[in-house]
Amino acid sequence: MATNTDRYAFLPGAPDYPTIVGGDGVFLIADDGRRILDAAAGAIVGNIGWGRTEVAAAAAAVMPMGYVVPLWPTPSRLALKDELVQHWLPEGMGNVFFTSGGSESTDSALRLARAYQVAKGRPDRWKIIGRHPSYHGMTLGTIAAASHLGRQKGYEPMLLPFPKVPWDDPEQVLKVIEQEDPATIAGFIAEPMTGAAGACLTASDEYWRTVTDVCKANDILLIADEVMTGYGRTGITWGHQHFPFDPDVIVGGKGLGGGYVPLGAVAATDEVVEALTGSGFMYFTFTGNEAACAAGTEVLQILRRENLVARAAEMGVVLERRLREELESHPAVVEIRGKGLFWGLELRCNRDDVVNAALERDMWVYPAGSGPVADAVMVAPAFVVTADEIDQIVQRLRGALDAVHPG
Ligand SMILES: Cc1ncc(COP(=O)(O)O)c(C=O)c1O
Repeated sequence: MATNTDRYAFLPGAPDYPTIVGGDGVFLIADDGRRILDAAAGAIVGNIGWGRTEVAAAAAAVMPMGYVVPLWPTPSRLALKDELVQHWLPEGMGNVFFTSGGSESTDSALRLARAYQVAKGRPDRWKIIGRHPSYHGMTLGTIAAASHLGRQKGYEPMLLPFPKVPWDDPEQVLKVIEQEDPATIAGFIAEPMTGAAGACLTASDEYWRTVTDVCKANDILLIADEVMTGYGRTGITWGHQHFPFDPDVIVGGKGLGGGYVPLGAVAATDEVVEALTGSGFMYFTFTGNEAACAAGTEVLQILRRENLVARAAEMGVVLERRLREELESHPAVVEIRGKGLFWGLELRCNRDDVVNAALERDMWVYPAGSGPVADAVMVAPAFVVTADEIDQIVQRLRGALDAVHPG
């Protein structure tokens, strides 16, 4: 039995979570046989649901080969790149750099923005514009580029002073870029819909048009952080496609490996990649890990074979309707927002209390919020979720909210 003395996150005082020994669709199976309704697909990772033996088989088939240095092609690397370029990435994004997850991908995108500017003969461009609030990962570079106060806390002296713009105000975007001087700015990173920091905050079309235009006008690389919103989560392939948001770089992780393998990818336009000169854009040792690439390709093919992105859109309509019917007027709820199977409930009560109350009802929801969004939880089940399971999610969440904040 796991206890908090295990200190998985190095920290004392974590709750005694159940030990999970299996998965089945939208359920996690605990060692005592309990079926825990996974209403957040883990950390909004498991787009295809749990228990997919096809993914395990694809990874197992290539594992005996072992390790190959990342610059060399292998069948699984080539297959994943082809799958991405042919079926997932927007036209003109024919270049992919593999990583082992979201943070490595966003951090690599920051590096790419800098490398691009240096290659173009602009060594003064080093700043990355981030949004407040936002989350881009836990490397020192991505903590600095993001604005998640809880996750920055204590590390401040180690963080580069990257400028921030508000998540929703186009005039401020223009003002900050002007004040900072575009000739010092390498890139602008943005989640199309804010994940852990804001629980699905969604800016206006005017905002995204302004961001896109000012970046294009000044050759600032626009990076879409699609680690949470990518691979169909919001009911279409990429979250940015809901808006007039035209990125030069797309970063993905989470749903790409579906939770089965640590895998991320950075895709960039031909223009960006062709500008790079010989000076090294170093890979990670596990860039393009063979088993991870094989599993990722299988995950993406399952999404296509089973038409799961369309299903995310369809079940998203059901989830939105049920959340609004049951919870919009609940005293604990400030706002319900989202798209597809990516939903946030901003709360008037402590999010950890709600997460724990949900766990007492055998359900996992994802805690979120920072800065202007003090407390929130996210509901983002696997795309295989049924209408009946959505009802169970909403009922259990109602039970948790009633228990924590009855009014
Ligand atoms: C938008 C976004 N970017 C980056 C990351 C970091 O990804 P990882 O935790 O896989 O390193 C996350 C993780 O939650 C995320 O939501």
